[in-house]
Amino acid sequence: MTRKRVTVAFLREKEELAQMTEDVRAGLLGKPKDLSPWPKYLYDEKGSELFEEITALPEYYQTRTELLILEEKAPEIVARTHCRELVELGSGSASKTRTLLDAMIANRESSVPGDGQVRYVPLDVSESALRSSARRLLEEYSSSLEISGFVGDFDLSLESLLARSRGAEKPGRLIIFLGGTIGNFKPERRQKFLQRLRGGLGERDYLLIGVDLVKDARILEAAYDDKTGITARFNKNLLNVLNRELGGEFDPDLFAHQAHYDAGAARIEMWLDSKVRQKVAVAALGLEVSFEAGEGMRTEISYKFTLESVADAFEKAGLRLLELYTDEENLFGLALGTTR
Ligand code: SAH
Ligand code: TRP
Repeated sequence: MTRKRVTVAFLREKEELAQMTEDVRAGLLGKPKDLSPWPKYLYDEKGSELFEEITALPEYYQTRTELLILEEKAPEIVARTHCRELVELGSGSASKTRTLLDAMIANRESSVPGDGQVRYVPLDVSESALRSSARRLLEEYSSSLEISGFVGDFDLSLESLLARSRGAEKPGRLIIFLGGTIGNFKPERRQKFLQRLRGGLGERDYLLIGVDLVKDARILEAAYDDKTGITARFNKNLLNVLNRELGGEFDPDLFAHQAHYDAGAARIEMWLDSKVRQKVAVAALGLEVSFEAGEGMRTEISYKFTLESVADAFEKAGLRLLELYTDEENLFGLALGTTR
């Protein structure tokens, strides 16, 4: 029997606090105030927990739909790609990942009897989410799985992750980016990211990217502004992060969560609107930030896709779109691509 293995390493490009100070300063001095280029600050320990609650909301169809597609298609995806290493960007709780791990292990066992080991390489900025998901997976899979996790930023550390993720055997890798997280990049950054991903792919590697699909604005807006207010708490938690990390004095009760779908741009925007005219000190920035009553600060964007826009994004990045797997209602898609 193979030994249980899990390792967690840190990938850090720069002093995190220095980076955060720089990012938040740029965001708060922008017109409009805009922290959406840095969604990672939403995911501290509390934020990661709240996101998990979002994924179970009736309004948030994304997670259960992506799981449904994966449950149905994982065996086909694995048979098609022959991959035995799974690299996951922004893995979070990795709750959908076992569909692919199961399929890889089954595939491996049928081709090499008795040797079902598969390698899983998750990367997430949230150390707490990474550790608890790795622990859970390892308990569940024991000898069939080797886990090599990384705490880091998938944007800043993409190249080093792709260079370091390979195990000794160098089989094909499936690099997955689920949850529609790619939609949180603006188009220009998305294209650069896809190109960089392409640059890191070997001949036998594949990409599987989850994309939320364009649909009725009411369905989209409800998914980002649920009745019970969990999404509002998730969004406002960003203020707690700024308070804790940068000595901010934001009062979350003086801000209102808002989600709006811009059909022309095919994106949802999340904002925190100041309920009153106020000044907020942020000690680490040496700033007093002024808000007019009703003035908003953008905190997140989430692009929605069509088959055409996914095909176009892949093509422009030099990737071949092999398939866009979708559910019956066309709510969500999983795009499979290669370099060839
Ligand atoms: N893949 C999971 C989680 C999606 S939420 C799912 O499909 O449910 C986005 C995840 O990406 C969170 O776990 C968050 O911590 C992580 N994340 C956000 N920005 C990141 C960044 N810049 N680098 C690494 N991880 C990031
Ligand atoms: N990647 C998720 C998405 O775009 C992130 C997310 C879900 C989110 N709900 C949110 C971000 C609410 C901010 C606010 O769907």
